[in-house]
Amino acid sequence: MKYSAAPLNHSEIVNYLKKKSIYDIKNEILLGLTAPSKYISSKYFYDEVGSKLFEQITRLPEYYPTVTEKKILKNLVFQLDFDFSNADIVELGSGDASKISLILKQLPDEVLAKMSYYPVDISSSAIQESMTDLSRAFRLKNMTGLVLDFNTQLHLIPQKSRRLYLFLGSTIGNFDESERHRFLNNLYHEMQPGDHLLLGLDRVKEQSVLENAYNDSEGITARFNKNILRVANRLVDANFRPDDFEHKAFFRSDKNRIEMHLIAKRDRQILLGINYQIKLKQGESIHTENSHKFTENDIENISKSSQLKIKQIFSDDKKWFSIVLFEKASIKP
Ligand code: AVJ
Repeated sequence: MKYSAAPLNHSEIVNYLKKKSIYDIKNEILLGLTAPSKYISSKYFYDEVGSKLFEQITRLPEYYPTVTEKKILKNLVFQLDFDFSNADIVELGSGDASKISLILKQLPDEVLAKMSYYPVDISSSAIQESMTDLSRAFRLKNMTGLVLDFNTQLHLIPQKSRRLYLFLGSTIGNFDESERHRFLNNLYHEMQPGDHLLLGLDRVKEQSVLENAYNDSEGITARFNKNILRVANRLVDANFRPDDFEHKAFFRSDKNRIEMHLIAKRDRQILLGINYQIKLKQGESIHTENSHKFTENDIENISKSSQLKIKQIFSDDKKWFSIVLFEKASIKP
């Protein structure tokens, strides 16, 4: 019997969301629901039910981003200008961990045995399930799941060895330009010189392709959208009835983004706990998501605003999706 020096597959989960007070979360939601144009942040889609619905979305024939990105990821490692040996991986918005699996599959056992993987997600159930799956499939040195909100809690990710950050799925598309700028700046400051970022970006394309991806024929996206009202009911003790609302998703070419809304089917009064009450007129909207689509020019601008250097761009044949490798250079230009 041979024993390795360090036990493999050491794994734990740290939940930093609990440190974010429930008052902050309540306040954020109440602020959106009492604004002149009502909104709920798209990060609140992902409770246990919402995370499952999103996984269903990724398997829909209309929802091309996931399949397209996975096709690129499948044989990316040998082309990638990044040295995985003695490097750690931090994945922001890791979800069901199906993407990291595609990468780990392409790495030799010796590299995996020295690697730590940090899945970061707002959904603790997604982290839990994905870590169980991963520890069955791969022998990593260490796996530490971090349940946190990467909008405000990036600094809580532990700093150790040289690392590759993954931010896939075009999740960055949920940010508007200023949020994106702030996020990339925060990330830049967490990164050490020599660290890399692999960023997935959904590209601007024909409007009908974009709109079909958010208006699937099975109505899963509609259920996903409406589920945010159940989350709100729980978080601010509201009494939304999801079926009083209609799912609406459309492309705004002036902003290069899909917007998702929930439209009130009739006049509604909603209680928000015991202290607040809002009125919604028939046809009034609650804005639930922006999903920005990117051009070649945007990729350049992301590099400029983040100070991260573009090393490589990988796209599918139709240029529907791109994965960009950035590096934080050792010497600032
Ligand atoms: C997980 C944010 C990338 O914007 O396409 C899918 C979420 N919303 N269908 C996206 C989503 C509606 C998705 N992201």
